Amino acid sequence: PPPKTVTVNGKTYTPDEWYNVPDNVLAATNRKIFLQKDHPISITRQILESKFAAPEYLPHNDFDPVVSTYENFDSLGFPADHPGRAHSESFYINRDTLLRTHTSAHESAVFRSSNSDGYLISADVYRRDEIDRSHYPVFHQMEGARTWDRSKVPNGDIAAAVYADLARMPTHNVKVEDPHPPFHAERNPLQIAHHTAAEAEAITAHLKRSLELMVVEIFSRAKAAAAKQDPNYVDEPLRMRWVEAYFPFTSPSWELEVYYAGDWLEVLGSGVSKQEILSEAGVPSKLGWAFGIGLDRIAMLLFKIPDIRLFWSQDERFLSQFTGVSDNLDTLKPFVPFSKHPPCYRDVSFWLRSISPAGGNTASPTTHDVHNNDVMEIIRDVAGDIVEDAKLVDEFTHPKTGRRSMCYRINYRSLERTLTNAETSDLHERVIAALKEKLGVEIR
Ligand code: PHE
Repeated sequence: PPPKTVTVNGKTYTPDEWYNVPDNVLAATNRKIFLQKDHPISITRQILESKFAAPEYLPHNDFDPVVSTYENFDSLGFPADHPGRAHSESFYINRDTLLRTHTSAHESAVFRSSNSDGYLISADVYRRDEIDRSHYPVFHQMEGARTWDRSKVPNGDIAAAVYADLARMPTHNVKVEDPHPPFHAERNPLQIAHHTAAEAEAITAHLKRSLELMVVEIFSRAKAAAAKQDPNYVDEPLRMRWVEAYFPFTSPSWELEVYYAGDWLEVLGSGVSKQEILSEAGVPSKLGWAFGIGLDRIAMLLFKIPDIRLFWSQDERFLSQFTGVSDNLDTLKPFVPFSKHPPCYRDVSFWLRSISPAGGNTASPTTHDVHNNDVMEIIRDVAGDIVEDAKLVDEFTHPKTGRRSMCYRINYRSLERTLTNAETSDLHERVIAALKEKLGVEIR
């Protein structure tokens, strides 16, 4: 049964049968590593914030992680059947309340209350997902937006006001590909009832330059750091490209990708805010753009951090490497891994519970389904940050009985010390017991 009450960030909530927050995830709500001085996530936030100065942009870094489904989904135009709403994808306190899955959950509140033209919101966000070196149920995002008020710009001429602001911005000399047409009839139509194509294009130009400058800053710092560590470092020119995207709360919408280590890497989502969002927030005369960027992956590449679990480490061998960087960003250096401890793999195979179909037709039993995210979470719940990754390595249906079997391979590896065999076996036994208890599976 769910706990009677849970307290997050000093506020108390009442769970119901939808409650699905494991204790380790609940505990993470207290950590606030994105605000912790000299923490790589916090340093990354600072670098991004440095490109969006006051008074145009004001940072908001203290929103509660618990939000309503209205704030997280409905206020942004997510349809009722959007997959992100599923119990298997998000952490719910109760039916109407969850741990935010993105910082966009606060867009409406800031549009409503802020008296600045732009804002930044940084926060911890929560999603149920795989376990591996780049996925963790808690990660961080920065959201930002810039608006112009039609009732306040001269003659209501938004395009002129936006271009005037753009003219005051610095330029950069990085090659940017931008192959897609600005509008798409279904996915990204012009918001014809609210602004002209010329206005949307002005806002887009401002959006693109602003975000390009932010990404250039990050990658220049990443290169400078890499060059400090490796005297033979070869500086390759930075390449970026804008790719058409879809978000329910922007139109048109884009992702910005950066060419990195031989691949195009998606770094952020963005677009021209839908006027419904601004109207709903009580500021119908404003229009503008918004973006959202994940901080953890950016921090991993900036600091060459090989495993996302390290961000949660309280080991001084990790934390002390960043001392002083918050005060002087130019001292940023890549992380130097302390001894890598050996991995320890263990497999677990199980039969899924079969459910006798109504009418007792045992010739074709249906099997109970198990969601991958449930398995991941049970493993993480027992073994905590000692799991490096876990994956489904085999799956089959017995030809005669119709029962389904799954095999997971779990890699136990501490970031901080070498695990003994006995310790690993004990952990694995406890994982198995939890899988049996929580999923009702039969171990093979
Ligand atoms: N919230 C979106 C995400 O998590 C990112 C986004 C923010 C896109 C703002 C557009 C505008 O993927």
